Amino acid sequence: TFQEEKKPKCVVFYGTFIDTPVLGEYRIRENTAIGVQDGMILFIEEECVDPLNVRSLYEPWEDFEIDVIDFNTDLKFFFPGFIDTHVHCSQYPNVGLFGNSTLLEWLEKYTFPMEARLDDLKIALKVYSKVIQRSIANGTTMASYYTTISPSSTKLMATLCSQFGQRALIGKVCMDSHSPDYYTETTTQSIASTREVIDFLEEELLDKKIRPVITPRFAPSCSRKLLKNLSQLANEKGGLHIQTHLSENENEIKWVKTLFPECESYTAVYGEYGLLTDKTVLAHCVHLSDQEANMIKDTKAGVSHCPISNSCLSSGECRVRWLLDQNIKVGLGTDISAGFSPSILNTSRSAHLVSRHLAMKIKGSNKEHVKLSVPECLYLATVGGARVLSMDSEISLFEVGKQFDSQLIDLNSPNSPIDVFDWQYQMNNQAEDTLYKKLPQPHYPDLLAKWFFNGDDRNTVQVWIAGKLVHSIM
Ligand code: GUN
Ligand code: FE
Repeated sequence: TFQEEKKPKCVVFYGTFIDTPVLGEYRIRENTAIGVQDGMILFIEEECVDPLNVRSLYEPWEDFEIDVIDFNTDLKFFFPGFIDTHVHCSQYPNVGLFGNSTLLEWLEKYTFPMEARLDDLKIALKVYSKVIQRSIANGTTMASYYTTISPSSTKLMATLCSQFGQRALIGKVCMDSHSPDYYTETTTQSIASTREVIDFLEEELLDKKIRPVITPRFAPSCSRKLLKNLSQLANEKGGLHIQTHLSENENEIKWVKTLFPECESYTAVYGEYGLLTDKTVLAHCVHLSDQEANMIKDTKAGVSHCPISNSCLSSGECRVRWLLDQNIKVGLGTDISAGFSPSILNTSRSAHLVSRHLAMKIKGSNKEHVKLSVPECLYLATVGGARVLSMDSEISLFEVGKQFDSQLIDLNSPNSPIDVFDWQYQMNNQAEDTLYKKLPQPHYPDLLAKWFFNGDDRNTVQVWIAGKLVHSIM
């Protein structure tokens, strides 16, 4: 039968694009057209007057069907999707519930019982669907998830991420030691379940956006044999991602010392068993020594900074500037449910505050240096996260060859929590001879600061992942 030949489709996004290729700096491109085909950025046309004109600029476009998505208006801009480098989807029902507990008590009282409950796939379906949608609605286009010890609940999570279109690393939690009777597994089960999930992703789900991550919960939950077997599995599969918790809480660190007396430090435990690689994501890293930071730097592992979680469980303050100064990769994690917010914008705002709390404790010239600026925090939320997840060649910047994972921010959306006064603009456009003193013209760094401090999901009006619209409140 004869089929009409379909022209390939190119979507041209037109408007203001803001991203952070360099720590602490914005790149702001107004009146710009970005062409996307099959999820990938094909061209970027700056100072573009007519986005439909791309057809004449690029000969091959003659054969393309071109759709223009025009948001070239005031107070709207495209920003790269946020990256959540550490989130426990299975703990979502517990968000906000931690009282005055600290890590080890919190795990026993709130966390293990909840994760165990998600063995029931009907509950897991509800919880996982909600947390993925909430994450996307907050502009998160990629997340590194911890599920539970259950392989079936983990496969369900992977399937749901694929259906909702979110880019994700999916980690079945591994724990064969010092875990409650009702929520533990044998070493053999843990490895077999991890393989089962990897095989499912590689052979059945077949969504390139969803990849496995080897997930030993943290050193105290894992036997030496399990740690070793997991690193071998990561190697055997060609260098998979690895994620775990490190140096979060003082009592946890003391416990690791008694459990692994042969290792010089908490970080050395992961080093000893082959779990420190350039694809390892280490959550928290609050109380590291200089030697531990050196090990992380040498192995090129990355740090997931979870400022809300570390404040809620009063774990401490991660010294982000100290890590960045050593060229260690740092991204942000919501760490639901030790962290109460599914929003990376909210998390980056907390990173900003925590850096000031560190500054207030310091005397001397370093005081100013440890403070993180707004553009630095937004870098951590995007490029920093992409580097930690070894995805920086694929996402987090608007550049040719990268995936189009983006959010459209509208500072003036209906019910926006941000007040941007347009009379402030209008007044400045009036004649110079007005009696009023000229106000500073609002410009992008100021508008971004307004979004950073008061914005929320009401400003994230559309979200695309790999060029596909996955969320819209317009
Ligand atoms: N350490 C071990 N498990 C966990 C967890 O679920 N959350 C946090 N924040 N720390 C942990
Ligand atoms: Fe965590």
